Amino acid sequence: MAQNILLLFGTRPEAIKMCPLALELSRRGGLRTRVCLTGQHREMLTQAMEDLGVGCDRSLEVMEEEQPLGELTCRLLERVTAALREERPDRVLVHGDTTTAFAGALAAFYLGIPVGHVEAGLRTWDLSAPFPEEFNRQAVDRLADWRFAPTPQAARNLLREGCPPDRVYVTGNTVVDALCRTLRADYTHPALTWAGGRPLVLLTVHRRENLRALGALFETLGLLVRHHPEAAFLFPVHRNPQVRRQAYGLLGGLDNLRLVNPLGVRDFHNLLARSALVLTDSGGVQEEAAVLGRPVLVLRERTERPEGVAPGCLHLTGTDEAAIRKNFESLLEKRETCAKIQIDLRLYGDGQAARRIADCLEAGRPGPPWTPQENEIYRVIG
Ligand code: UD1
Ligand code: UDP
Repeated sequence: MAQNILLLFGTRPEAIKMCPLALELSRRGGLRTRVCLTGQHREMLTQAMEDLGVGCDRSLEVMEEEQPLGELTCRLLERVTAALREERPDRVLVHGDTTTAFAGALAAFYLGIPVGHVEAGLRTWDLSAPFPEEFNRQAVDRLADWRFAPTPQAARNLLREGCPPDRVYVTGNTVVDALCRTLRADYTHPALTWAGGRPLVLLTVHRRENLRALGALFETLGLLVRHHPEAAFLFPVHRNPQVRRQAYGLLGGLDNLRLVNPLGVRDFHNLLARSALVLTDSGGVQEEAAVLGRPVLVLRERTERPEGVAPGCLHLTGTDEAAIRKNFESLLEKRETCAKIQIDLRLYGDGQAARRIADCLEAGRPGPPWTPQENEIYRVIG
């Protein structure tokens, strides 16, 4: 009899990384897959789902304006529990470290439903950064029965915590699967026309721990933009009202900075691939930029994605003005142009993560793990 798998997610980054898996699972005869969206995000979630061509079977629509974590968690726990009672899946798959992942895994655990954790084992070992994500992912890994670790480093973190080795499977990160679907050689966008011959600098900011001093961070970024009229800065502003108010209030009206609404993931990936430099506090953007060979100033003190640091892709600057300026200037000077788009298959995955996870669920045991450098080094687009 076919196994019933429920994919449960609700934010933009989870959608981008779970859609390749939803598409792969839907092709498998031995699995009956349903997608349940919690709706922790609204517009940004819908945008990503539409862009990646994945529908949903159930939608819980939990989002409220400026949602505090406690209330969001309560709504999620209640509505996911009710949905799981009706769906009665054999297994729930959650992703990463969001409130949806934490509350969804907890609801399944309370009902005795096994949980598979996609993107398991990322760690900073500091519960304050990223907050509250570091707690969420540790908690989900504690109660999961399958842990799909994106990299060997993530798997080592899990083993160090005492997870049984036969329940940890290195699959690669599904973000590389997503990139393989979205990148185009013949891509055009008005932002590229606007940038003209200037180097494009892509900027995103949204982390909760950066919201406390967001005004100061935006002042710093404003100075950087003013000091570099030779560069074209593009800032797709997150839907978080706190970010929007301050971004438009403090960074509006600069000629070489464009503030735009969140981009669809196809646009974002293709613009990223054509950027000279990226400034971000995002998790997923660090991975995407690094595999595309785009240098990143990580506006955080630490990263749970250290694989990109040693090869010189990720530069941890925090939000310190001097560190941002120094790194920005030296990286802008050394920038490389990218006539062809290359996906580096060594850092975070090889584009086969969804297939490995689906194989494991169908067979009930892991197949050969992803081993970096075992494969060709680059996939070239264009
Ligand atoms: C959450 C995740 C974080 C992830 C981020 C992705 C947790 C604990 N954190 O951040 O790991 O990096 O999402 O963006 O789950 N909003 C809208 N429309 C939308 C999306 C959000 O209006 O489409 C508003 C919400 O009302 C909310 C605010 O933006 O008040 C922030 O959204 P929320 O899901 O609470 O984000 P974070 O917890 O900051
Ligand atoms: N992204 C997008 N449009 C944008 C900005 C980002 O589609 O305007 C995508 C990006 O490609 C990445 C994901 O959103 O896959 C990252 O989401 P976010 O930074 O919100 O969350 P995090 O990865 O930090 O959890």
